[in-house]
Amino acid sequence: MAHRDTGAGEPVLRRWEARSFLGAQMDTNLYLVGFMGTGKSTVGRQVARQVGFTFLDSDHEIERLQGQPVSAIFAERGEAAFRAMEREFIERGHPPKKCVISCGGGLVVPPGMLELLRSRGVVICMHAPIETILQRTSHTTHRPLLQVDNREQRLRELYAQREELYRRTGTMVLTDKRPLREIAAHVLRVYRQEAAQFGK
Ligand code: S3P
Repeated sequence: MAHRDTGAGEPVLRRWEARSFLGAQMDTNLYLVGFMGTGKSTVGRQVARQVGFTFLDSDHEIERLQGQPVSAIFAERGEAAFRAMEREFIERGHPPKKCVISCGGGLVVPPGMLELLRSRGVVICMHAPIETILQRTSHTTHRPLLQVDNREQRLRELYAQREELYRRTGTMVLTDKRPLREIAAHVLRVYRQEAAQFGK
């Protein structure tokens, strides 16, 4: 696929290429899931830019709608209320087509959420080893689940609890020690194959 260099070092598709990429069924939403710190938003933004889709981050959309940060929602209304907001966002809170959505790490955890996502579009899981996640989240202040004394222990517990579930979500794309450009290309290859089959 031919690329134009923007000068920023990141290839984007030319207009006609984006159109031919989109094709008949290539307007299906793409949902990126995976543990916190796996790079869902960074990769999602890049992929959205390359195909001309709208990029949305479920945490940011919920924060915008509620007028408060995720940490305040957890503290004042509890995790269950936040999970209900995530479900509401997936059910009714975003356009049904041409979006790349970075899903908060726990969004896919409650029963039925994976099936719901799959009914809306292509689901791809971002993956990184726990050591990388520990590093990437070491300066985090905004993640309520990590506001504990022993952050490493908390992350290891959560990772172990959720690993199996993430593996079941769909194709996993490793985001560790790979350039963003390569990761985005991998995600796009998988998206293309799966979007062609979507709804069939
Ligand atoms: C959470 C992950 C966060 C955010 C909230 C809960 C989780 O999103 O939704 O803090 O349960 O794993 P990121 O995966 O974008 O950090």
